[in-house]
Amino acid sequence: MQFSTKNIDVVAQATQCAVVFALEDKLLASAKAIDKLHGGALSALIANKDLKPKAGHKRWITLAPSKRPYQRVLLVQLGKSDDKKASKLKSDNLLAALSSAATALSQSPVKDATVYIDDLFSQNITVEHNGTTADPSWVAEQLAIAVQKASYRYTETKSKPDAKPALSKITYASSNAARVKGQRLALVRGAAIGSGINYTRELGNLPPNICTPSFLADQGKALATSSSSALTCRSLDHKQMEKLGMGAFLSVAKGSSEEGKLIIMEYKGTTVANSKPHVLVGKGITFDTGGISLKPGAAMDEMKFDMCGAASVFGSMKALVEMKAKVHVVALIAAAENMPAGNASKPGDVVTSMSGQTIEILNTDAEGRLVLCDALTYAERFKPKSVVDIATLTGACVVALGNHACGLYSNHQPMAEKLLAAGTFSNDKAWQMPLWDEYQKQLDSNFADMANIGGMPGGSITAACFLSRFAKKYHWAHLDIAGIAWQSGAKKGATGRPVALLVNYLLNA
Ligand code: BES
Ligand code: MN
Ligand code: ZN
Repeated sequence: MQFSTKNIDVVAQATQCAVVFALEDKLLASAKAIDKLHGGALSALIANKDLKPKAGHKRWITLAPSKRPYQRVLLVQLGKSDDKKASKLKSDNLLAALSSAATALSQSPVKDATVYIDDLFSQNITVEHNGTTADPSWVAEQLAIAVQKASYRYTETKSKPDAKPALSKITYASSNAARVKGQRLALVRGAAIGSGINYTRELGNLPPNICTPSFLADQGKALATSSSSALTCRSLDHKQMEKLGMGAFLSVAKGSSEEGKLIIMEYKGTTVANSKPHVLVGKGITFDTGGISLKPGAAMDEMKFDMCGAASVFGSMKALVEMKAKVHVVALIAAAENMPAGNASKPGDVVTSMSGQTIEILNTDAEGRLVLCDALTYAERFKPKSVVDIATLTGACVVALGNHACGLYSNHQPMAEKLLAAGTFSNDKAWQMPLWDEYQKQLDSNFADMANIGGMPGGSITAACFLSRFAKKYHWAHLDIAGIAWQSGAKKGATGRPVALLVNYLLNA
């Protein structure tokens, strides 16, 4: 997808499709200009209630060849204004409109479109985003993300895949020449974040017989090759992990015929001095059967999504590469398959982690924390500025927060607040959960330094408490993304979250 921006007039710009907007029953400036030229065709849609007042509702208008420069008009509803004067718009409505426009374009034969949402700013309509006023660049970034997301199709394992969208070029009409530069950068950022989101979705969606730990290691290598040496990748095999004493990681990986991998990527943007990196750690269980503590059969296929934390780290790295971000980031992917087998771990087994702490495995289905704890210890060697782990860690987190926010835990409040702010900014929300000492004793074990489960109450919290014991040497946060990483049901598929949150955090950390 090619994104560009310029300060242009809707009447002059040649495009296959002009995307224009209405705020309730008022056409924004570009829509008005087109309406005037074409005999009130747009205002008639509103007057006749063919364009509903609901945000995201839309209508196509095809024009006769004589009426070009644009062949079609897509009129999109922004919904109800937040005040009587039609001068305030909630960001939720704006995002619904952008996503609806992007979806409509991606399903149409349109190859290039010009989007006139910047009219909002020339008309002094403020966009309210979680208590702050969104700026024109934020809107451009969100448009680029929406277009990228709408253009994704899963095709890899279908013999008759859906056609790829025709759309390949978006022009962002800036209503003020002074804003062009900022919006151009925002489009680059949004395009890269959207591309990272789609990569995360693709890795998540791939079946577990294809997307194995070694497949993920190859993805890292491919990403490195594509990055013109800004990103490097290597991975540790079982032998190397044994040498490091990663007994917790290996206790999960050993029951599978797919060898586990600790994948290490390092991204260093240009002009970044020899700085300490931020580290991302992704849970990459490419399939979670539960192991000997076998999961029930219903919907077990969805445990192919148990590598979505890892996928979000890959997506974030891809986004950083594509936007040439000036940051220094190390990514650690703890990739393994959790299987029941004759040589699999058993409830009651005690293993020694790389940190030296011993762990009694009371439930082999609590495997995420076992692979992550050794990756967290490994992270120490980078002397990180901060470490964020991202994991589909607990069903309990889904019970607590549902599907709208991920759970955020941190041992450093300023870091937690940066992540919360990044989530709010990018509409990829996190909600902070407690990491109080009171919960720690649920992990007591009679036979080891700790158990790998803390019982039913506060299951997402005790999982975070477990990880916190391996993250004492740096500022650390944990995102439990079990409720947000994928959708079930008819729209089953990975969401690409929380790539937007992570990239925004890294750009501002
Ligand atoms: N990958 C699962 C968590 C999960 C379950 C995510 C369902 C999304 C939907 C994780 O490995 C797991 O099995 N956790 C257990 C922990 C328990 C044994 C303490 C869980 O949540 O049941
Ligand atoms: Mn599990
Ligand atoms: Zn799991």
